Order: sequence, then C-alpha cells, then structure tokens
Amino acid sequence: MIKLAPSILSADFSNLLSDIKVVEDAGCEYLHIDVMDGHFVPNITIGPPVISALKGKIDMVFDVHLMIENPDKYIEAFADAGADLIVVHQEACTHLHRTIQSIKALGKKAGVALNPATPIETIKHIIHDIDMVLIMTVNPGFGGQKFIESMIPKIKELKSLCLRENVNIDIQVDGGITPENVKKVVSAGANIIVAGSAIFGSNDIKQTVKLFRENSVV
Ligand code: DX5
Ligand code: ZN
Repeated sequence: MIKLAPSILSADFSNLLSDIKVVEDAGCEYLHIDVMDGHFVPNITIGPPVISALKGKIDMVFDVHLMIENPDKYIEAFADAGADLIVVHQEACTHLHRTIQSIKALGKKAGVALNPATPIETIKHIIHDIDMVLIMTVNPGFGGQKFIESMIPKIKELKSLCLRENVNIDIQVDGGITPENVKKVVSAGANIIVAGSAIFGSNDIKQTVKLFRENSVV
C-alpha cells in the first residue's frame, strides 16, 4: 500500500488550511511541506511559522522537505514547529551522519533527499540510520515540472540496496508524479508518493486521490 503526500507548494496559500483539509478528508497520509531558501534552490517558500500555525489543526504526518543550505542551523526550529519527519538534502550536508543524529535526538524521523544527479552510493553507509530516502524525480525548486525517466533505475537501485542491507525504510519520490506514471515508480520500489500539481491542481481531488491508489496497485 502506498502513502500519498500532497505537496502544499501547489495549494492556494491564501486558503491554505481549507485546501489541506480537502486532501486530509480525501485520506492522504502525509503533508509534504517544501521549504526553500533561495540559496540551495532558486525559489523561496515557507518556514517554521507556517508549520506551527497548521500544527494541531491537521492530523497528517508533517513531512518537511528542507531544500536549504545549512540545515543543521534550522533543524531544531522545524522540530519545534511540528515536523514529524525532517528530510535534508545529501548535497546540503557536509556531515550528513551527524545531521541525521541531531534530527533523531530531537525525537523526529529522519530522511535524506537525493537530487537527480546524486548517486545512491552516497547514502550507502548511512542507510541503517535513516527512516526514509527521498528520490527527487525533478530538479528541486518548483512544482509542475516534468518527471525525469532516468530516475526509474535509480529507485530500483535503492530498493535493491535496501533488500541487500535488510533495511525496511520508506522510499519517497517527489516531482512530476501523476496518476499516469505512479505505477512505474511504485513497481520500481517507491511507497510514499509526493504529488503537488497533480493533486492540488485537480478539480476533483477525491477522484484524483482514488486514481493514484488504483493505478499504483502492482
Ligand atoms: C520540488 C518540490 C516538490 C514539488 C512537487 O522542488 O520538492 O515537492 O512541489 O510538485 P509536482 O508534483 O507538481 O512536481
Ligand atoms: Zn518536495
């Protein structure tokens, strides 16, 4: 069974809470929150105040995707704001193992994201220390981009590594995922599906969520 993680980047920020209620009512499990700093990625989005404003009003897993430089500096602020799962980019962490330990010391789940060009090899030695790997299926920065096909063998490679190492962690995919291509990523090994424009841009969110689930049966 997959879990769905609508990305609020594609929600209507002037109606954020009510937009999120719709995906919560539709049964989506994770709330994917894209944090961008204008340095690690070209775009700037939201920070801890928005997360703490939503916390307590929404009963979903707060999945915070940090697309920022120096994540160590902000991990505590995101943990305090209400993140349940904190995802840092491999490319932004000089001491990735230490960063993961600090997320876990705050009692939060830890995930590591890989940009399309970053090999699986770079997380091989910390695979036992994390709860999730996020495979970026677009270059981070914006919603509504096209899925990068060459990420399919990469997801498979990660899945084989997990099986070989006997670790049962989540594999999340993020970027350009739609009801049309979800089956491919799930067959490759993904089990948490981020979708921004495909969900919030749909005029029948309940139906789209249903389609994501039906189409992901492998
Ligand atoms: C991209 C973000 C994604 C984005 C996904 O940098 O990390 O979470 O919102 O949006 P879609 O599903 O529209 O590609
Ligand atoms: Zn994201």
